[in-house]
Amino acid sequence: MTGVIERYREELPFGADDPIVSLEEGSTPLVPAPALSAIVDAEVLLKLEGANPTGSFKDRGMTCAVSAAMREGAHAVICASTGNTAASAAAYAARAGLTAGVIVPEGKIATGKLAQALIHGARVVALRGNFDQALALVRELVERHPIALVNSVNKFRLEGQKTAAFELLDELGELDALCIPVGNAGNITAYWQGFHERGAAPRMLGFQAEGAAPLVSGHPVEEPETIASAIRIGRPARWEEAISATVDSRGEIRAVSDQEILDAYRMLAAGEGVFCEPASAASVAGLLRYGADSARRVVCVITGHGLKDPQTAIDSAAAGGPVGVAGGIVSCEAELGALEQAVLG
Ligand code: F0G
Repeated sequence: MTGVIERYREELPFGADDPIVSLEEGSTPLVPAPALSAIVDAEVLLKLEGANPTGSFKDRGMTCAVSAAMREGAHAVICASTGNTAASAAAYAARAGLTAGVIVPEGKIATGKLAQALIHGARVVALRGNFDQALALVRELVERHPIALVNSVNKFRLEGQKTAAFELLDELGELDALCIPVGNAGNITAYWQGFHERGAAPRMLGFQAEGAAPLVSGHPVEEPETIASAIRIGRPARWEEAISATVDSRGEIRAVSDQEILDAYRMLAAGEGVFCEPASAASVAGLLRYGADSARRVVCVITGHGLKDPQTAIDSAAAGGPVGVAGGIVSCEAELGALEQAVLG
């Protein structure tokens, strides 16, 4: 397989001689979700973006942002991040031989993402502030220094991420609705751009966490809070674009509670065999809460892999759930009788 630039070069702003930095991202699985389909009475499919090289959809955008940075002769890239952009920027910078700086809210990003940024050799800056503050500061920083900003305010990020919409259309022909988690609002903007460029118009159904839902309330949230740390964002950079996408597609941006996110997270893992991170489950939580409306075929974007955030999985499994997840771990002596008891009891 090839990466997204090679696969969709004619629809992307890259020429045949441009340098391409790729980890063969994209071409991710689109799997049917029979349990969910039965619940909402529609054909539901899951686009597994956690299958990208660094475990999230960011890689589609990062191959483009880092390739463009190389073309422009940059030596360094930087981003503010709730974790996944940091992991992806660190990996693609390492691949390209560039220096990477990642600015993350201190103590607020999942362990796996921090591990990725560190092992890929990025300079990890833990900011005593939230994502919105980090992004505002980093935008000022790049005004003063020749460092390429690879957040989704960079148009190449959207160019890359729109390829997920192309893949859906190439595989399905058509779909009625797309359920997608919304944080900084780059991804919903990118999907809509991709659909629009191909003349398609599925309803864009975006979901934010209740404690971080500025696009639902209509005003910025100064202190966003949610278990879904990836979308703990109160001032989305692509605000207007996300609103346009939903208006133009006759869609909507709505809120789901942390409890609904965790229920969907466990349901996906135990009922569909798909382990995602909490933010990704917001798309499914939204579908479960608000229903499929009249949509016959719905795609839920599963934005990041569950292994990004092992602690939430362990805590959540131990707490048990509405779908009968067996909680905790059974401790056992190294003896057959005890094992029988542990396994069957
Ligand atoms: N899902 C996951 C797993 C994410 O990491 C993000 C954003 C989103 C959904 C929302 O996408 O911001 O384009 O609306 N993560 C960014 C980051 C903010 O820094 O990794 P969005």
